[in-house]
Amino acid sequence: MTERYCVFGHPVGHSRSPSIHSAFAAQHGATIDYTAIEAPLDDFAGAWQAFTNTGGVGANVTVPFKEEAFRLADTLSERAKRAGAVNTLSLTSAGTTQGDTTDGVGLVRDLEHHGVALKDSHVLILGAGGAVRGVLEPILATGPASVLIANRTAMKARALAADFQDMGSVEGGGFDTVSGAYDLVINGTSASLAGDLPPLPDSLFASNGTAYDMMYGAEPTVFLQWARERSARTLDGLGMLVEQAAESYYLWRGKHPDTRAVLEALRADVV
Ligand code: ATR
Repeated sequence: MTERYCVFGHPVGHSRSPSIHSAFAAQHGATIDYTAIEAPLDDFAGAWQAFTNTGGVGANVTVPFKEEAFRLADTLSERAKRAGAVNTLSLTSAGTTQGDTTDGVGLVRDLEHHGVALKDSHVLILGAGGAVRGVLEPILATGPASVLIANRTAMKARALAADFQDMGSVEGGGFDTVSGAYDLVINGTSASLAGDLPPLPDSLFASNGTAYDMMYGAEPTVFLQWARERSARTLDGLGMLVEQAAESYYLWRGKHPDTRAVLEALRADVV
């Protein structure tokens, strides 16, 4: 029987996950039934229950349900516990729900594929919301020399850094604490959505520095445009989207898809 998967979101109509997962399955000569489901804002648990009752075995979870999925899961991976959020639900053979998050691994893999070395590097992360919390564990696990989390609301960045103290050199503060030259600057704020740019010093990037925006779109974000003007290498979040999907696919089906081909096809579509 064709296995059933879905992505839950609200809204979810523009999600690329169905086409990404169908492309992964096609690489292995398989067919999966992967749909986008707009879960009601007040009953995410009911939507998951209804899905599993009708043959669903796995789901991706996107905005605004990642924290609810975290609360709903019977068991959680270590990285999901750290993230406080779940983007991948799996129905176990015992009928329980396992929660995991693949966002951070997706980001780190995308950086690796682009030849960006995290180990021993100086990293600046902009933002201290759920998106940033979700990727910190895998970033710190690569062994960067230092990580500074800078946020409009400084207190949130300090609290977030404190939660990850045991994993290495990580500090938090306001944008005014940003100084020096960074090998990698990751924008995890939603400022780009409003066309805003966090206030940043001009000399932000080390030579060969990279700017990464966790968002993507047909046009480069304001942050990436700004970084390009300062000669940084720029990468958007489309690769992260494909890599996090690949890790979910692996969790469900035990196979690692070829992400490069799928990313290229998606890029041709997005641009
Ligand atoms: P997400 O799940 O996308 O992380 P979130 O938890 O609401 O969403 O976090 C949004 C992040 O973007 C926060 O770090 C927020 O800064 P504050 O904590 O100070 O609110 C940041 N952000 C949103 N709009 C911004 C803007 N115009 N300039 C700078 N930072 C902004």
